[in-house]
Amino acid sequence: MFLRRLCRRDTIKFSEKLLDRYRFPEFGNYHFYTSRAASSSQQIASDIYRSDEDEANVNWEELGFGIVPTDYMYVMKCSKEDRFSEGKLNRFGNIEMSPSAGVLNYGQGLFEGLKAYKREDGCLALFRPEENALRMQKGAERMCMPSPSVEQFVDAVKQTVLANKRWVPPPGKGSLYVRPLLIGSGPVLGLAPAPEYTFLIYASPVGTYFKEGLSPINLFVDDEFHRATPGGTGGVKTISNYAPVLKAQALAKSKGFSDVLYLDSINKRNLEEASSCNVFIVKNDVISTPTIEGTILPGITRKSIIEICPHYGYQIQERPVSVEELMDADEVFCTGTAVVIAPVGSIMYHGKRVEYRSGVETVSQKLYSALTSIQMGLVEDKMGWTVEID
Ligand code: COI
Repeated sequence: MFLRRLCRRDTIKFSEKLLDRYRFPEFGNYHFYTSRAASSSQQIASDIYRSDEDEANVNWEELGFGIVPTDYMYVMKCSKEDRFSEGKLNRFGNIEMSPSAGVLNYGQGLFEGLKAYKREDGCLALFRPEENALRMQKGAERMCMPSPSVEQFVDAVKQTVLANKRWVPPPGKGSLYVRPLLIGSGPVLGLAPAPEYTFLIYASPVGTYFKEGLSPINLFVDDEFHRATPGGTGGVKTISNYAPVLKAQALAKSKGFSDVLYLDSINKRNLEEASSCNVFIVKNDVISTPTIEGTILPGITRKSIIEICPHYGYQIQERPVSVEELMDADEVFCTGTAVVIAPVGSIMYHGKRVEYRSGVETVSQKLYSALTSIQMGLVEDKMGWTVEID
């Protein structure tokens, strides 16, 4: 109760800070608009205060992984030569940009994904947000974009979560998925970096990613479509890595599979990752996951699993993992921010289907419980991964 009151007092302080920002707007030449733009600073402050008071009108029992529009989004801009300076919260809504924006014409854009959790004491926590900030910086370097500092990124995420706190699902019902975007928003015609960039964060309450919920998923191993090639951008979270897998994903879904598992594009032999998550196999209690070598996204959940495995007595190896080993594994699971840890029930490869161990005694179930207990504050966070927002 005391903690709950503390959290609320901080929200009021936060609203006052926000009101100040609206009194002294230093964001001239601002091209974004929202259809529900607040008419005055007072209106915005009272809206945010109300946000804290009113429970969002969401059926928490029915949450899947779809967009639920929330109250606010964070926006910060900079030109090619500049650094990002200060951003602000806008009402969530459509954005306006030139038809020749770099992101629309040449796909100059990155995205991130992280989650905010509501704990039993009412406080809100993020999981390793600075890892998302660092990954965005690496991606920005690859995509010739300026990027926010780690501090700017984490502060913007916190502001976005606090402004939308009524949309954070109750403990055990899901989380608030936070989606930072970094896009070339300025106009270009010839192929070149955009002259202006926008860092934007929106959020949506989510439940489980796959329609299977926490039940095992079924994957199709594709050796016709590839997600990434050496020298390409598979190792960074650019928006342009995701539309190209839609075809393979749609074909697999039409045959009843949950997702596609991709192989390396050179030898079509080693595992890479699924469309939306990394992959691990378990054989004789040894856990293995493909090495990150530029074609595989360095997942933050993947990294966290690698780091906690030794604490739970598991041997973990990062190495090339062949499709033959996959077919011979005892257990397989996928990891990702959206997916968390999803057990794999079966795999289809070249017309052959294999089934894997599943259920409460599996490695993936134990790791799921270990990870989510840290995220939800149910055990002491000895790794120092969680960041309380208040
Ligand atoms: C995430 O797990 O956060 C992702 O960005 C994957 C996305 C395809 C939902």
